[in-house]
Amino acid sequence: LESTYEVIQVAGVPSSTNTFAQDVLSGLGAESKELPAKYFYDAVGSRLFESICLQPEYYPTACEAEILELYADCITARFPSGVRLTDLGSGDCRKSSLLIRQLLREKRQFTFVPVDICEDAVRSSIHALGKTFAGSTLAIQGIVAEYFDALASLRQRHEPVVVLFLGSNIGNFEEGGDERFLNRLHAVLKPGDSAIIGFDLIKDTNVICAAYNDANGVTCEFNLNLFDRINRELGGNFDRRYFVHRPLFNTKLSRMESHLMSLREQTVTIAATGRSFNFRENEMIHVESSYKYSPQKISWLAEQTGFAIQAQFEDPNHYFQDAVFQRL
Ligand SMILES: C[S@@+](CC[C@H](N)C(=O)[O-])C[C@H]1O[C@@H](n2cnc3c(N)ncnc32)[C@H](O)[C@@H]1O
Repeated sequence: LESTYEVIQVAGVPSSTNTFAQDVLSGLGAESKELPAKYFYDAVGSRLFESICLQPEYYPTACEAEILELYADCITARFPSGVRLTDLGSGDCRKSSLLIRQLLREKRQFTFVPVDICEDAVRSSIHALGKTFAGSTLAIQGIVAEYFDALASLRQRHEPVVVLFLGSNIGNFEEGGDERFLNRLHAVLKPGDSAIIGFDLIKDTNVICAAYNDANGVTCEFNLNLFDRINRELGGNFDRRYFVHRPLFNTKLSRMESHLMSLREQTVTIAATGRSFNFRENEMIHVESSYKYSPQKISWLAEQTGFAIQAQFEDPNHYFQDAVFQRL
């Protein structure tokens, strides 16, 4: 047996310039300006996110890696034979590779399916996994797609599925989006399938705020890259000198918010949207939410959406939790 690698692009949806332009038009045309966080992740954005993960303040990656290192054997022991291990929003696959290593060590049968909106992330992570696990019998089927398109493609499969939704990706939806996501996941999974979901837990607000405002300014650069991408792909003329990154903790909604704030009154034209957008001094564009969870909220979400929590793993500081949601 040899390793096999392939990359599938689902319907070309994620990279469509039209969809991007429409989303920018409706987001910047709204009363409270906003842009969808999924557009952070072009090739440059994905690299910057990898760099955020290495910043000392960005605890979610270190804590989740620690959990997966400590409990990889307990987690993979539950995986059925021949499982399709689907990593949604897989990024650089560094954390999922801890589970892959365990499965290979135990000589288990499985296919690893990294799914990401960023084609560059899918291709480079597969390349890196090929190097890390050279000489093994690893089968990888990379998918370039949005979460929900990739989930729809799960309906046709015959093998059992375990979905990985790591890195607190579940916290990046807008209000109620986590519950809607789990309902959609439930609809495509079969009884006995499961999902391992990474939740960032509520903790000291100072710790959370520092994670989204690292001293090296990488998170700031990651946020401002959204303007570079709009300028490049949609013919915009954002001048990043006149905007700043403003991270804020919203206590009422228990979420970290990233905003880009205009430093002066200005007008930005974006050719692909066919119009210009006016900004007031101090006006903000909401670009990302990262919800923080209580154990009660995690249990509530599982109950509401037809999952039973089979196991919950936390790092020693209780900053982060990986929960095993079994589809009922
Ligand atoms: C916060 S990063 C987490 C990466 C990795 N799972 C980890 O834990 O380090 C989010 C990843 O999800 C991808 N992503 C964001 N929105 C997406 C969407 N709507 N559909 C598919 N992938 C998405 C991004 O490209 C990025 O690689």
